[in-house]
Amino acid sequence: MNLVLESLQMLCLVLYYWLESIYLSIIPASVRGKDVSGETVLITGAASGIGRLLAKRFANLGCRLVLWDINKEANETTAKEIRKQGVTVRTYRVDLSNQKDIFAAADKVRTEVGQVDILVNNAGIVSGKKFLECSDEMVRKTMDVNVMAHFWTVKAFLPTMMKRDHGHVINIASSAGLIGVNGLADYCASKFAVVGFNESLQFELDSLGKTGVNTTLVCPYLVNTGMFDGCQAKFPWILPMLLPEEVADGIIEAFLCNQRVVYLPKLLYFFLALKGFLPTKCLFLICNFMGANSMMDTFKGRTK
Ligand SMILES: NC(=O)c1ccc[n+]([C@@H]2O[C@H](COP(=O)([O-])OP(=O)(O)OC[C@H]3O[C@@H](n4cnc5c(N)ncnc54)[C@H](O)[C@@H]3O)[C@@H](O)[C@H]2O)c1
Repeated sequence: MNLVLESLQMLCLVLYYWLESIYLSIIPASVRGKDVSGETVLITGAASGIGRLLAKRFANLGCRLVLWDINKEANETTAKEIRKQGVTVRTYRVDLSNQKDIFAAADKVRTEVGQVDILVNNAGIVSGKKFLECSDEMVRKTMDVNVMAHFWTVKAFLPTMMKRDHGHVINIASSAGLIGVNGLADYCASKFAVVGFNESLQFELDSLGKTGVNTTLVCPYLVNTGMFDGCQAKFPWILPMLLPEEVADGIIEAFLCNQRVVYLPKLLYFFLALKGFLPTKCLFLICNFMGANSMMDTFKGRTK
């Protein structure tokens, strides 16, 4: 095809996808969402916060659950709550900072449960210290849990999804993967990496024609799970801490509709657009005004 025709086709498709996204945004997920009952979903970091809530939401959708976490007891508590819903659940104690542990657990899952249809890379940690105060070990661990673990779980489970041309990978990043924050350099680096990984993976799947395998990148602002306890939003009436329930609901809605990217709250789309066209100094000024320079000053983090 010559370049003129190719350009015209591209412009028409851009317009079509734009109109399609407007049309889809007004139809509720309950109407246009896919049916995933009977599918197997593996959630990392299922013992707490967003992971536990997602496990409950997937159980409501009729999925079989595989729950991974380093905290065996709390992971069992999640499983116990879900079994009440009459759903099949298996728990595994996995240290996601350890590649061998991940591959060994993946082998066990394949033998004991079978194929995984939906993979949710959710587990995460935060040091909450200025970069030079973070020990080398902590920096490494943050990268291992927050991003390297995504590489290893995807290596373990994506090949079968691709062979069947059926599956979904949900990667939980953060708004800290879109805009840097004072006092979160290691965390932001790990989350920026997740954003790049997810985007590239989706390009790879598209280029291979794997239309049945989807990815969803999730970037929430601060969520009230305990992970960022003590952090203060400077303008809570503009950007309040999110409720874990609203984040879990937002993730499930995006997943059911095969939405590729979801920022929570929606205001983040506006900030990201600003980042795209404002001069860098203006961006830093606005971020500082919004409290990005002081947000972590009162950070305590998870105390239990
Ligand atoms: N809480 C927030 O403000 C916020 C905001 C944006 C993004 N996120 C991201 O959302 C995800 C879930 O966060 P949350 O707030 O529910 O946190 P959380 O602390 O409640 O849950 C994290 C889970 O990961 C598990 N985990 C930690 N290290 C592990 C390891 N080495 N091996 C296995 N499991 C391990 C923990 O045991 C815990 O169950 C994380 O990736 C986090 O970075 C959180």
